[in-house]
Amino acid sequence: MDSKKEINRKISVAPMMDCTDRHDRFFLRLMSKNVMLYTEMVATKSAIHGDRKKILSFSPEEKPLALQVGGSNKDELAEVAKIGEDMGYDEININLGCPSKKVQKNKFGADDVEDFDYLNNFIRQMRDAGTQTFILHARKAMLSGLSPKQNLNIPKLNYKMVYDIKKANPDLEIIINGGITKISEINDHMKFCDGVMVGRSIYQNPYFLVEIEKEIFNTPDSPSREEVVKKLLEYLDNEVKKGTKVNHIMRHTVGLYHGQIGSKEWKRYLSDNMMAKDSDFQKAKHIMRIVQNNEKANQVSS
Ligand SMILES: Cc1cc2nc3c(=O)[nH]c(=O)nc-3n(C[C@H](O)[C@H](O)[C@H](O)COP(=O)(O)O)c2cc1C
Repeated sequence: MDSKKEINRKISVAPMMDCTDRHDRFFLRLMSKNVMLYTEMVATKSAIHGDRKKILSFSPEEKPLALQVGGSNKDELAEVAKIGEDMGYDEININLGCPSKKVQKNKFGADDVEDFDYLNNFIRQMRDAGTQTFILHARKAMLSGLSPKQNLNIPKLNYKMVYDIKKANPDLEIIINGGITKISEINDHMKFCDGVMVGRSIYQNPYFLVEIEKEIFNTPDSPSREEVVKKLLEYLDNEVKKGTKVNHIMRHTVGLYHGQIGSKEWKRYLSDNMMAKDSDFQKAKHIMRIVQNNEKANQVSS
């Protein structure tokens, strides 16, 4: 599909189940044009037998966009890769590192091993099969005793092993992931790897993307949070007309004022008005008042 040179993978937003759906990705794109975005993991069987439009469709604005697939049957993986390519995805990413019980049962999950040679041999086998880009979450999963959530926090991060993989395979594109929360950390990792993938720090604080655009991509113009919400409301209006529920879009914006004055008010407003299953678009119209108040309060304080 794409050669590694065509896609800018300097910074990407990690695939996150129940988080990086198409509405979240549209919202994130309003703050960053340059990051690479990923879908939530899609099981091969759902992509083949399920409601394909519902599961795989996306807005053109979300691109560049990777489809993440999970499965252990190579014919099914190939079929879904072809479906993804035909639908216009820019990359097909295979999930090989999930520690959940369900994924283990389906035999495409994480391995309980932390050994350089083992990982390096595995990567070289995939390189020989044609893969150029590898995204490495820098910690091993412990398959017994820890939940998937604990596996994202408890096993110690081992960034050095990822750097060593890059050193041993300079021809491959190696992206590092896990626990990265600051621009300074991104810059440090970029000295040793080709790109950085960030998950939770962006989902919990999506406006971090504006800082990433400014500091990493040198983008001169930054949208204010007010501008972001205005554009999201246009999207919301269109989507609601097509039958999308207000809460399915607005739930992703909870962290928009993370660390700002007005964060509490924003969250309260969302939970009082926009999080119920039957929230309607009329309520969204008052949202700009909260946004403008927050904008003023933060200007005064800075
Ligand atoms: C809520 C949640 C859902 C996730 N879902 C996926 C997934 O569908 N596919 C995947 O490869 N990784 C998934 N992950 C792992 C992330 O992609 C990422 O590797 C991990 O969160 C570490 O990066 P971070 O410390 O920057 O969050 C998920 C993580 C979280 C927190």
